[in-house]
Amino acid sequence: MLKPKKLVNNNFLSSLDMSTKEVNHILELAKNLKHKVLNIEYKNKVLGLIFDKSSTRTRVSFQVAMSRLGGTSIDLNPTTSQIGRGEPIKDTARVLSKYCDVLAIRTFNQTDLEEYARWSSKPVINALTDLEHPCQALADFMTIKEEFNNFEDVVLTFIGDGNNVANSLILCGALLGAEVRIACPLGYEPNPLVIEKAKMINKKNKNLLKITNDPISAVSGANVLYTDVWSSMGEESKIEEKDALFKGFTIDYDLLRKADEDAIVLHCLPAYRNKEITDKVIDSRNSRIFAQAENRLHVQQALLSCLLC
Ligand code: CP
Ligand code: NVA
Repeated sequence: MLKPKKLVNNNFLSSLDMSTKEVNHILELAKNLKHKVLNIEYKNKVLGLIFDKSSTRTRVSFQVAMSRLGGTSIDLNPTTSQIGRGEPIKDTARVLSKYCDVLAIRTFNQTDLEEYARWSSKPVINALTDLEHPCQALADFMTIKEEFNNFEDVVLTFIGDGNNVANSLILCGALLGAEVRIACPLGYEPNPLVIEKAKMINKKNKNLLKITNDPISAVSGANVLYTDVWSSMGEESKIEEKDALFKGFTIDYDLLRKADEDAIVLHCLPAYRNKEITDKVIDSRNSRIFAQAENRLHVQQALLSCLLC
């Protein structure tokens, strides 16, 4: 019978904290949870959420996932806890991990997340940093698998800013053997260390990762088109400058028509409709954006099950 297996790493800070086998295990658990053929219980377990940035999907899907497991969650607002006053991470992490069984943290610097993990006696999950969004990538590949059944024949083209979402897609895609193409304006390429790590994983097939500044060539033959906001949380002062630089990187019908005819479209949300993606494409028959958002819940319930077992 399918049941959660303990992960080798105690934390999920990066997509690379899981092996290929572990990612596939999470996706299998998530599928079974989604179709209600699996029931997992962790009564009385408590998830602590620390969110230094806004969130709708990640926060609520974690809370619902925990409640479906029979546990509870505590949403720690940095402005009403002592976190906002600047209490050191190492003190906060040591105290909160005495009360909670697992912590999900959304913050700016990956190094702050790593500091939480260093001092926490319980597992720490990356709920988004400037560098990565690994829970999002799990939901994205679950959505891709629902459509195409495998990853080996899938070409995923991400069009936009090569930051957190793109970085985790690159790493998770490398683990699963998907071809990942990133099309971004010059100067907005993904993190060089992320590229290097993905290349190491892909060493038998160097063509699996392509970085380009040309969205049109990147979508040719693609099965999945993916985009994210041009200005991320924390970049509010750069919106005007980035809007000008990212002109030509919108997923619209013209670009969609250049992809495979059965291509699906993904967006992590929240979107700026008619900026990085048109209204029409979000609501088109090709869009799987809302199934993708739903899958956040199922993969995170699976992830929590494996971290708590
Ligand atoms: N995709 C995502 O992480 O959405 P939220 O910012 O609403 O959590
Ligand atoms: N790149 C976006 C993702 C939001 C889910 C951000 O960091 O704001």
